[in-house]
Amino acid sequence: MTTFTSQNLKELIKNQKTGYTLDQIFYNDPKIYEIDLNTFFFNHWIFIGHISRIPNIGDYFLFETGNESIIVIRGKDDEIYAHHNVCRHRGSRVCLEKEGNKKLLVCPYHAWSYNIDGTIKSARLMPDEFKPEEWSLNKCNLKVFEGLIFINFSDQPDDFDEFIEPTRPFIELHDLNNAKIAHRAIYPTFGNWKLTLDNFHECYHCQPSHPEYCSVHDAQYILSFGAGSQSSAVESQEFNERLKKWNEQVKKLGHLTGVYYEEKFSKFSRSAERTPLSDGKLSETKDGKPAAPIMGKFNERDGGYTSVGPSPFNSLLMCNDFATTFTFIPKGPLHTDVELMWLVHKDAIEGKDYNLENMIWMWDKTTIADKKIIEDNQKGVLSKKYQPGPLSDMEKSLESFKNWYLKRLLQEI
Ligand code: FES
Ligand SMILES: [Fe+2]
Repeated sequence: MTTFTSQNLKELIKNQKTGYTLDQIFYNDPKIYEIDLNTFFFNHWIFIGHISRIPNIGDYFLFETGNESIIVIRGKDDEIYAHHNVCRHRGSRVCLEKEGNKKLLVCPYHAWSYNIDGTIKSARLMPDEFKPEEWSLNKCNLKVFEGLIFINFSDQPDDFDEFIEPTRPFIELHDLNNAKIAHRAIYPTFGNWKLTLDNFHECYHCQPSHPEYCSVHDAQYILSFGAGSQSSAVESQEFNERLKKWNEQVKKLGHLTGVYYEEKFSKFSRSAERTPLSDGKLSETKDGKPAAPIMGKFNERDGGYTSVGPSPFNSLLMCNDFATTFTFIPKGPLHTDVELMWLVHKDAIEGKDYNLENMIWMWDKTTIADKKIIEDNQKGVLSKKYQPGPLSDMEKSLESFKNWYLKRLLQEI
């Protein structure tokens, strides 16, 4: 294992070349991975589920990465709680099954039991001076916003409202509070979290790798992927014209339009935009026809696509009728879980109101393809012959993610 001083790391950060990928060490080193986890993943608000996953009192699931395990559970008061899955007696895991329903959380070691709200219900044979009220399970920061369950591991979490403010209208437009999970899937990917995210920050690879994605999205949009951001890719005059016209039509319908990106360096890395799908398409389906009933604050279908990145670890890609959400979970220096949820209106019935296969078609196929190219990328990056390579004009948002990462890392060490 590499031994680092913060001075070494500072030098390393400064030596990264503009317009090139990172040195190998950033994509494979366990020590940098640990620093990354604490600086980024454990220091951000990240949504890790939707309220519809735990509809009944006592329903819970575990969210786990590294040494951390969080019990996300619905309480008697219908509130959602997030507790560290660490017994306050001698530290055992309390919940062992990944999901289920529990009215009481009983530690398997010496049978201390906890109420759903984390308070102690009973602790056997403890001395008289033991004060149970001082030994509740530790809470993890939690915020439910528009049905999305956000957690933050930090002892000093960023203010949630400040964090969500710029992307709030884009998320609220789709009324995810009144949605349910139609399908959920995890794509375990052999790739460092940054390499995995790099792939999601550019569409240079879309033409060779994603025929399904390219059949739904405008070729000019693909060319100008990320064009709403400061780090705009290739400018497409044709797409800009189309976007302008579409914005005018959509405004008349009373629907939200626009774009958000961080104009200057910020501790957050957030973006949001609304763009039209390929001409004539109404949804991200094979034939471009709707897959499900309208969801959200739409008066009618506008053929729009809302892309939101509240943090590097989450994306929401939303049509008028369903939303696909992404959570990127670092699992190890060379492993990242990519978790997808497909959300539809809560009253929609599968087989009657929506066809699941049709709905998941695009992002399921695309994420399987992404997993493959990321894994092949990681294998090559591990070779002794890997060296940072030059980025194309279509990878400018990858460059901007890299710069944000390096700058924040430098601030933290
Ligand atoms: S470690 Fe949980 S009851 Fe002892
Ligand atoms: Fe991709």
